[in-house]
Amino acid sequence: MNISYILNELGEERDNYFNAIAPPIVQTSNFAFNSVADFRAALGDEYDKNIYSRANNPTINILRKKLAALDGAEDAMVFGSGVAAIAVPVIALLQSGDHVVCVENPYSWTIKLFTKLLPRFGVTCTFINGTDTANFENALQANTKLIYLESPNTFSYELQDIAAVAQLAKSKGIITMMDNSYCSPLYQQPIKLGIDLVAQSATKYLGGHSDVVAGVLTGSRTLLKKVFELEHMNIGAGMAPQTAWLLIRGLRTLPLRLQRSFETCQKVTAWLQQHPAVDKVVWPFMPGFKQAELACRQMQGCGGLFSFTLKEPSIKKIEVFCDALQHILMAVSWGGHESLVIPAIATIPVADYSLDNPRHQLIRMYVGLEDAEYLIGDLEQALGEL
Ligand SMILES: Cc1ncc(COP(=O)(O)O)c(C=O)c1O
Repeated sequence: MNISYILNELGEERDNYFNAIAPPIVQTSNFAFNSVADFRAALGDEYDKNIYSRANNPTINILRKKLAALDGAEDAMVFGSGVAAIAVPVIALLQSGDHVVCVENPYSWTIKLFTKLLPRFGVTCTFINGTDTANFENALQANTKLIYLESPNTFSYELQDIAAVAQLAKSKGIITMMDNSYCSPLYQQPIKLGIDLVAQSATKYLGGHSDVVAGVLTGSRTLLKKVFELEHMNIGAGMAPQTAWLLIRGLRTLPLRLQRSFETCQKVTAWLQQHPAVDKVVWPFMPGFKQAELACRQMQGCGGLFSFTLKEPSIKKIEVFCDALQHILMAVSWGGHESLVIPAIATIPVADYSLDNPRHQLIRMYVGLEDAEYLIGDLEQALGEL
């Protein structure tokens, strides 16, 4: 389906709302029926009918159609956060006694889901280095019900061969799920590579303005209905209509924003790579990236998230550099208009810092929509403080 059609028209029935270009925010919790027969019929089909906004809402339904089409999926569900779009389906798919194979170092709350929350309900998880597909096969157990991917990783950028893992899982009858927040559907479509369920933090590129927290899940109608009927309705982590509206607005400019971030990131990473105070820059579309061939095979682009290390990676030096930044903000998240850094040292107790752990030295940067020269100027003056 044509991307301009998806972003500008799909799902929008403008003649139902005065031909307004921007759809209405249908700010209602519930919907009325004219007869018991209609009411009963709707209650029997809550997945598709507007009854109560915890389940469905017309503004949300416009968004769902666009998100499903962007991913090449049969359907999409939306949530009040990216973690809800991960946790709710995972809980729906698993029972006590089941086992999960998950890539190592996924998003921090995904780690907690598999190491703290689900073990309370009898679910176990094995974390593996996902850069080698054989590691998935070797970790499988008779009770493995789910393989969970996140490609690329959003701090250290390891990739998995998505099509190969999906094929392996299919041959064993195991469901696959993947976090595609890094690429967004514009730069990677895991459903087309055989993945069953794709989650995304819509807080990032889809929203794009650092003003919403939201999540998306795409997949087959059958799998999504299963997630919807009990866990989605019971946990109640759905999306508010106003958030859906902000996401529809964000989608209008998604290709422009991503392209801008991607192009500026090429300039910023190239500049950093030649700076004498910088040791290495890790970004999947960087010349010399370890898994460059796989990145080019399964990703159409990269966006603006990368990491780098300093030649002198002491806590003191990393702090001096980050504290000296004047325009690039220090904050979690990414995908908005503003450039950000987060040094790994901010995420661990000072006493735990180890020079033997390469992840500890990483400074993650997100390149937003500013000019490359403006960002490079800020990086230059901060590196000059070292
Ligand atoms: C890779 C990744 N997945 C999932 C999430 C969770 O999304 P949210 O913060 O929207 O709940 C995040 C948030 O930073 C993330 O970076």
